[in-house]
Amino acid sequence: MSIVNFSDNPNALQGMRDAGKLAKEVLDFIEPYVNAGITTDELNTLCHDFIIGHNAIPAPLNYNGFPKSICTSVNDVICHGIPGKYKLKNGDIVNIDITVILNGWYGDTSRTFLVGNCTPLACDLVEHTKRAMNIGIDAVRVGGHIGDIGKAISNYISTNTKYSIVRDYGGHGIGNFFHGEPFVAHYDTGELGDEIVPGMFFTVEPMINVGKYKCKVLHDGWTAVTVDKSLSAQFEHTIAITGNGVEILTV
Ligand code: MF3
Ligand code: CO
Ligand code: CO
Repeated sequence: MSIVNFSDNPNALQGMRDAGKLAKEVLDFIEPYVNAGITTDELNTLCHDFIIGHNAIPAPLNYNGFPKSICTSVNDVICHGIPGKYKLKNGDIVNIDITVILNGWYGDTSRTFLVGNCTPLACDLVEHTKRAMNIGIDAVRVGGHIGDIGKAISNYISTNTKYSIVRDYGGHGIGNFFHGEPFVAHYDTGELGDEIVPGMFFTVEPMINVGKYKCKVLHDGWTAVTVDKSLSAQFEHTIAITGNGVEILTV
């Protein structure tokens, strides 16, 4: 997949703004439902119906065989958790990752929610992960490089915490497709990466673990968990690089 350029497609920026805004609205809609006792499948159905009701399509559904409309990643699940019978309980953390397709354009965003009263460690992880995402976005500059993002997040996480940054998954180019170039590492790969130029759309979506960064995928083929069973959190925004600089599309 190649990078979408505004000059190639004058509708891209407005299309991506609309998709990003709807994805954000799904998270705002679901937040009050994220309480102890609800199942992740019930959250899935609520989001699915909301998305369909806004003339959009939930991008995960049937994407490479993914069986549900959203991802729900609880506690030691890093990402791509499949909604099911699991009932949220007091003290859980749960990432809800929403991707909508609106008029052919993709908006991708996620937040990690605290269920009831969480441990100080869980609260601290979630707070630092949100900061890490924002620091990654702040590092994005026209004329800079994709590698700046992981460098900034690595520096922040290593100076302020003992947590680790997931390496096996990253941000991605997005547009009238779900996942494309560039791959956005959230740790310092030591590489510069692609130059950041107007016309790019990509996500910043760091996953931070309390313990080691190592992941494994469960037998369902999707659910990525921490090997050491430590807690993991994630936040995600879709951003656009415009003639005026960086625009966050999912706020
Ligand atoms: N929304 C995820 C991302 O941030 C991708 C989910 S793919 C799925 O890239 F198939 F698991 F839904
Ligand atoms: Co994404
Ligand atoms: Co996502």
